[in-house]
Amino acid sequence: MKIGVIGGGQLGRMLALAGTPLGMNFAFLDPAPDACAQALGEHIRADYGDLDHLRQLADEVDLVTFEFESVPAETVAFLSQFVPVYPSAEALRIARDRWFEKSLFKDLGIPTPDFADIQSQADLDAAVASIGLPAVMKTRTLGYDGKGQKVLRKAADVTGAFAELGSVPCILEGFVPFSGEVSLIAVRARDGETRFYPLVHNTHVNGVLNLSIASTQHPLQKLAEDYVGRVLKALDYVGVLAFEFFEVDGGLKANEIAPRVHNSGHWTIEGAECSQFENHLRAVAGLPLGSTRKIGESAMLNFIGEVPAVEKVVAIDDCHLHHYGKAFKAGRKVGHATLRSVDRATLDRQITAVESLIDQA
Ligand SMILES: Nc1ncnc2c1ncn2[C@@H]1O[C@H](COP(=O)(O)OP(=O)(O)O)[C@@H](O)[C@H]1O
Ligand SMILES: [Mg+2]
Repeated sequence: MKIGVIGGGQLGRMLALAGTPLGMNFAFLDPAPDACAQALGEHIRADYGDLDHLRQLADEVDLVTFEFESVPAETVAFLSQFVPVYPSAEALRIARDRWFEKSLFKDLGIPTPDFADIQSQADLDAAVASIGLPAVMKTRTLGYDGKGQKVLRKAADVTGAFAELGSVPCILEGFVPFSGEVSLIAVRARDGETRFYPLVHNTHVNGVLNLSIASTQHPLQKLAEDYVGRVLKALDYVGVLAFEFFEVDGGLKANEIAPRVHNSGHWTIEGAECSQFENHLRAVAGLPLGSTRKIGESAMLNFIGEVPAVEKVVAIDDCHLHHYGKAFKAGRKVGHATLRSVDRATLDRQITAVESLIDQA
């Protein structure tokens, strides 16, 4: 079976690493000449709106999936004429736009921060008057890793903020004084069967994910599964979906969804019986889903900008290096390490060991 992937970054690369043993082949459509997934499959180097090359991709593959959600809606609609596309055009339409996704959460009774649609500075002024400060203003589309957003703390921050974010449609959210951030990675098959990985506790640095720790019997697991299950069903979703929550007052508030494999699920490659990457492929290919059970304690640390010395990373006990083969660049995700151990105390020591390598790098 040949899988077409829109986007050829590290997520595409890890999908191919998981699918190759299942007998799958891959083609990646990505305009970047150095797209790092090309080591694992065919690289169709073209823009996402290039209909000739989209048609070529559709003709070559059995189905198409995505490694990022900011694909233009027309691209998805065009491909869907010729080849099955998972997740669906509708799921992508909702997940790529913060207003649509938060509105869906609200319709489904899932708690969210207060939020408002912002189309002008006047809308922003009115929203700040009702939601209050501090608040977070985010572009409705195309934001990632904390980009395309601004925290508004005082009246002076509000002045001109609409222009500062590019005078594009935005959303204003009340600032959530969260005690922690968690994500739930779920997978739903074509027949509706749904499985959930354990909740993951996430720490961000400068808006970028730094550390994910898979939890053991988290008290909010069932609540999170209930919320995520509602979204999966409403979208008749097929594939892996990640749902980010704020932990607040012993409950959860929805932040955002990603209609794809997710950085906070990378630990599943070594830390779960079947990884998020393999389960995404199983789901879209119509295969039975794999077990989402965690193997021991597990965590993931991102390498941002550069990867520490390989010989030092792999010298740490049960530490698994993933080097994405990308050029080093400040702020760029260039790799990660998964840690696995039998108990939490050992895991914490391993995390400290990797962190000290990052500090030295
Ligand atoms: N309403 C909010 N209140 C408090 N912190 C927030 C809020 N929205 C976002 N953040 C912080 O900013 C990070 C990035 O925001 P997010 O909406 O997840 O965008 P991205 O698409 O960049 O991941 C979050 O993980 C969280 O730490
Ligand atoms: Mg996020």
